[in-house]
Amino acid sequence: MDICRQVDQLRTIVDGWRMSGETIAFVPTMGNLHSGHLSLVELAQQRASRVVVSIYVNPMQFSPDEDFDSYPRTLDDDLEKLRTMDVDLVFTPDDAMIYPQGESRSTFIEVPGLSDIIEGEFRPGFFRGVATVVMKLFNMVQPDIAVFGEKDYQQLLVIRQMVADLNLPIEIIGVEIKREADGLAMSSRNNYLDAAERENSRVLSESLQQLSDNIEQGMSIEQAESECHSTLASRGFIVDYVTIRETESLKKVSNEQLTANTVLIALAAARLGKTRLIDNLKFSVR
Ligand code: PAF
Repeated sequence: MDICRQVDQLRTIVDGWRMSGETIAFVPTMGNLHSGHLSLVELAQQRASRVVVSIYVNPMQFSPDEDFDSYPRTLDDDLEKLRTMDVDLVFTPDDAMIYPQGESRSTFIEVPGLSDIIEGEFRPGFFRGVATVVMKLFNMVQPDIAVFGEKDYQQLLVIRQMVADLNLPIEIIGVEIKREADGLAMSSRNNYLDAAERENSRVLSESLQQLSDNIEQGMSIEQAESECHSTLASRGFIVDYVTIRETESLKKVSNEQLTANTVLIALAAARLGKTRLIDNLKFSVR
């Protein structure tokens, strides 16, 4: 497994592969790899002959009051996991490589509309930071396909939109959420939960499941969102949002628009102690 810190090293290797007719899949990560990330790598390996994984904790996507400093950095463990999976190349750039002028003076990518709603309302600047770093990494790696987890569903849509708007020749693949046995969506931030919070955290996925059951049984969208919000609040969560949306545009849906087989997505973000958790569930109306 090659490990590159410099973009010219990365390009030399990837160009060599491309000249020999190989296809390249890319999995961008912020490290602290868990089975969710590894499922992205597995899919990448099925879809291309070479797999590049990047590990970079991107300062531009954290606001000053967020967990950039405490975000878990476990490079040695991560490299070991990727070596075991036989990944071809790991790219581990530093801030000077990604933002040579400093992050605040860098050219940025803004995907309008999708970036400003739901998660974007609670984390202003987050999607600008994600789109900018992903665009830069795409330009460095120049993959044929790139793989992202559906836990960050809105992020996946923002990246798809960026790729379409900027005519990037990259196929974006989403991989379904990997969950712990009790339903908690896997996330590096789950490490912040203490034992009691970890036990309670399963209520988030359970509440989304209940919300979808309620809609299927004919409850109105507003009532289902509000009941889910109340359940989470009663179990100690500070809720940022619980919302039911159309799956591609993330537009709100009215009860009148619901017909048999309409596919919807419920998205939620809520804090448990100092940990902010997000989750989502796609479901169809019968
Ligand atoms: O989902 C993540 O881990 C990050 O947002 C990403 C896509 C690697 C960009 O920093």
